[in-house]
Amino acid sequence: AKYTCVDKDTCIACGACGATAPDIFDYDDEGLAEVIFKGDNNRGIKEIDEDLLEDLLDAQEGCPTDSIKVEEKPF
Ligand code: F3S
Repeated sequence: AKYTCVDKDTCIACGACGATAPDIFDYDDEGLAEVIFKGDNNRGIKEIDEDLLEDLLDAQEGCPTDSIKVEEKPF
């Protein structure tokens, strides 16, 4: 199982992750990325669906500031 959240302290609002994985990430009013799963609120507590794992890893690799955190357990 995989879980994800965005470290908004290091996100530079580059916009890559939402383009790569639009079913996982969107942006807040400041353009900073966050996990959009209902009830997650960027806390990294919702398990990522199997069919979104490839998008997740692509987004993680594409983030220029390594702000997309991924763990095998809830954060
Ligand atoms: Fe921010 Fe990285 Fe996404 S800088 S907008 S978390 S690709």
